[in-house]
Amino acid sequence: MLDSYKIRKEFPMFTNKIKMQGHDLVFLDNASTTFKPKCVVDAINRYYEFETSNSHRGDYDLCYNADQKIAETRKLVAELINAKPEECIFTSGTTASINIVAYAYALNNLNKDDEILISLEEHASNTLPWFEISKKTGCRIKYVELDNEGRITLENVKKAISNKTKLIALAQVGNVLGYETDIKGIAKAAHEVGAVVSCDGAQSVPHMKVDVKDLDVDFLSFSAHKMCGPTGVGILYVKEEIMDKLDPVFVGGGNNVNFAPEANVNYLKGPEMFEAGTLNIEGIYGFNAALKFIKEIGIENITEYERNLRRYAVKRLIEVEGLTLYNETAEAGILTFNLKGVFAQDLGTYLNAKGIAVRTGQHCAKMLPIFLGTPATVRASIYFYTTKEEIDCLVETLKTGGNFLDAYFA
Ligand code: ALA
Repeated sequence: MLDSYKIRKEFPMFTNKIKMQGHDLVFLDNASTTFKPKCVVDAINRYYEFETSNSHRGDYDLCYNADQKIAETRKLVAELINAKPEECIFTSGTTASINIVAYAYALNNLNKDDEILISLEEHASNTLPWFEISKKTGCRIKYVELDNEGRITLENVKKAISNKTKLIALAQVGNVLGYETDIKGIAKAAHEVGAVVSCDGAQSVPHMKVDVKDLDVDFLSFSAHKMCGPTGVGILYVKEEIMDKLDPVFVGGGNNVNFAPEANVNYLKGPEMFEAGTLNIEGIYGFNAALKFIKEIGIENITEYERNLRRYAVKRLIEVEGLTLYNETAEAGILTFNLKGVFAQDLGTYLNAKGIAVRTGQHCAKMLPIFLGTPATVRASIYFYTTKEEIDCLVETLKTGGNFLDAYFA
């Protein structure tokens, strides 16, 4: 069983005893970003203090070492999601990854008679690229109906699929309600009509075993910073058979073999075709360390720990008078709620005053309020270093809002 207290000793944000508003920090915004263990910070510093060089651009040892680190990191990523290294592209994060799917694949393969299937609960990053593709190609955006709880069911996806469906873009785990969607079943149904599946794995890959071969998705996008790695690094997995249906989006140094004055260009094949320009090398050094750190803990242990802690959090939160929990049965460690009569941002400000960091508002999923019937919510999200005491602190603080919150009950 994972020992979150022991693990916290690895994180400077805990060992430095950070305070917020004079209180010990209780960080419950892990769906937004996560803390970095010392090994990640050290890896980044080591690159700058001892190993700085560009990659793929020099015939000297330092450059060769950076190339090796990038290749090793690609292998670690591939191992994590059961892909081949040559199916994994380094990007700046989930948003960039999904935009590559949109501009490198959808723009060239969809037309005005086609449909893209998404849902009302997708993050802006898994919505706006499709809106743009719809504007550019004339294809239609169609929405999967959510069930009563807000889940995306296989049954409803099947109902929404038609022979016009060419691309299905859904999160494996929603960033507001935290429900896990049956991506494997959806991929099977999509492939039966010749559609591809682009899966947003930003909220799933850091928390659970994601196996691209088992799911049979065509694209998977995720970010390093939500799994103890640095910001500015992400991954786009592209199924090998689809790679050659993609055109490069960014072109320049590092993604071509050669070019000539007549504008003849030979682009590199595989992931390098999408990695023009100097990569975020420090970020990849940090991601390398984060992937090893997660591997050491074990992704299944992380899932188990978080699911237990979530159950505890639900039990405690529903004790709070006037609290509406919007996702009691969700799988992920995301708890989304409101307190009766209190505007979500006001509650967030109050919690901040007590040292508790949560996210409030629409969490980038700006169409979900249509379903929830409330303009804003409070979201507390956990990771494997979150403790029961932190959940207790949140609950007790919500219970004892005192005058600040009472003002809103009038
Ligand atoms: N995608 C991140 C979130 O949901 C930023 O908070």
